[in-house]
Amino acid sequence: MTRAVREVWPDGQPVFVRISATDWLSDRDSWTVAQSVRLADRLAEDGADLIDVSSGGIVPESAPETTGPNYQLPLAERIGEETDSEIAVGTVGGITTPQQADAVIRNDRAALAIVGREFLRDPYFGHTAARELDATDRARAPVQYREWVH
Ligand SMILES: Cc1cc2nc3c(=O)[nH]c(=O)nc-3n(C[C@H](O)[C@H](O)[C@H](O)COP(=O)(O)O)c2cc1C
Repeated sequence: MTRAVREVWPDGQPVFVRISATDWLSDRDSWTVAQSVRLADRLAEDGADLIDVSSGGIVPESAPETTGPNYQLPLAERIGEETDSEIAVGTVGGITTPQQADAVIRNDRAALAIVGREFLRDPYFGHTAARELDATDRARAPVQYREWVH
């Protein structure tokens, strides 16, 4: 699948693949982080540039130990450490402030900090972040939005 996407996607544009790194079901046969490491190797071979590491929440009795700040970052870090490939690894989960996202990148804990629900709370989160991190000169917005966001 990734190979098919890579074939039609422009060479200069990255291919991201979102994965659920584990089902959090240690009491039964299910998807594990070790399998995700091997999946990362294969996705890299097929031309993926980045994996976006989430995890399963679809089985009611499954649960990560925490769903607090950066709760899925340890999964991304482990995959980044153990993959044999050069694939970039992004993290998502419980990132709610610009400073938190910035720290993930500055401390080299993941290649990309991805934000989900905070964009529902603040649809302008990207620009909120640019303002708070003093980086509005690097934030690009459609022309129609510029008066709103600067
Ligand atoms: C109730 C719930 C169930 C989720 N289930 C899954 C899942 O099955 N697979 C997955 O990859 N991510 C799952 N996620 C994670 C989300 O896709 C997303 O990564 C998550 O909201 C973390 O980003 P955020 O904290 O910035 O919103 C779930 C999140 C929530 C809140």
